[in-house]
Amino acid sequence: MNALVHARQQAQLAFAASGANLVVGEASVCPMPPAALAALTPTDPRVVEQFGSGLTARVLHLCIDGRHYTLKQRRPEALVRNLDGQTSFLNEVQRRADFTRLKADPAWAGRFDSIVPTLYADYRLGIILSPWLPGAPLARVTPDLLAPLLETLTACEEAGLMEWDLCPGNLLDDGERIWLFDFGYMYPFDPLCQFNSNGVSDPLFHACERFETRFFFGWLLRQAQPMAAQLACYRQLKALALAHYRRKREHLASRGATAEVLAWLDGILARWQQALGSEAALAACFELEAFRSHVLDIEDDLHGQSCTATTLLRIDFVCQALQHRYPALAAGGALFYDNAGRDQASLLALYAHKRQQAQGWQVG
Ligand SMILES: Nc1ncnc2c1ncn2[C@@H]1O[C@H](COP(=O)(O)OP(=O)(O)OP(=O)(O)O)[C@@H](O)[C@H]1O
Ligand SMILES: [Mg+2]
Repeated sequence: MNALVHARQQAQLAFAASGANLVVGEASVCPMPPAALAALTPTDPRVVEQFGSGLTARVLHLCIDGRHYTLKQRRPEALVRNLDGQTSFLNEVQRRADFTRLKADPAWAGRFDSIVPTLYADYRLGIILSPWLPGAPLARVTPDLLAPLLETLTACEEAGLMEWDLCPGNLLDDGERIWLFDFGYMYPFDPLCQFNSNGVSDPLFHACERFETRFFFGWLLRQAQPMAAQLACYRQLKALALAHYRRKREHLASRGATAEVLAWLDGILARWQQALGSEAALAACFELEAFRSHVLDIEDDLHGQSCTATTLLRIDFVCQALQHRYPALAAGGALFYDNAGRDQASLLALYAHKRQQAQGWQVG
């Protein structure tokens, strides 16, 4: 277990056991008393609709005196057994407090405009109240949407907040921009001397990778567009990411980031810069990053025993790649963690086994 992750979990468990509370905002802005919000049930006439699929909370869309709100209520018992799932409501209230501070800080003016505002949150009451955002889960990728999303994500990382769960259901497209509103798995870190909230032990993970892993490459698989169209879309993403990561690198350098952090960012920038240099280089980078993202997301789904049709598509992609492109993947560093050092036959057997598991753990 990563020592930083362990320390964060222990601190959150200690806070939960302490009886201390964390409140964000003023109760006076609530359309009804906070205790009444906590007691609202889905049959109440003020509830327009509910999103009950969450494992640690349920979300109610409310309409009160003509105004629309989103109320997140903690479940009495989280349905996820792992620690991060159990503390995700506390984690979200902590992040809501961070963003409320950051939004009010002139040094960050405007950079968190796509983060949902928090009207009021009370950890012990188990409520988080936000404005209702009209829109739908992200289902399209355009430069107009990507640019502000990357701006928001790099601002989060510059401020020391790492969002791990950029899945389609956590990205809301209102027609003009992508909103972030679910911070159950967003963790703090020191961007001047750490890569992400795991410290310096996992250089693989950062904002663009998270977006690619939890959203982009799965979305591309489901779209099943011709390869040329996929590469064109990937080129747009990489060009925007390159610009935003350059800016992030400069900000961190000007604030005194360590040589280790700057060298890590320079490595990422050099890879993307090279990828954008030619069609062949772009295709090579696509191959490695798509494989990486599918491998990582397959593990997430298997770990949570919550697999979907996309999990099977991802496993099929990985098997095809291993079958036909094993030497390139091995040479490009795409075989990491449990896959490191394994030969082709053993990886193919491993993913055939994972496919069977994923078939048994289909949730929708
Ligand atoms: N401010 C908002 N405006 C509009 N819709 C929202 C808002 N907040 C949440 N939703 C809707 O409610 C759903 C669940 O919200 P959220 O992701 O915060 O809860 P969750 O318990 O983490 O759910 P899950 O475990 O499925 O991620 C979202 O996918 C989105 O459709
Ligand atoms: Mg969510």
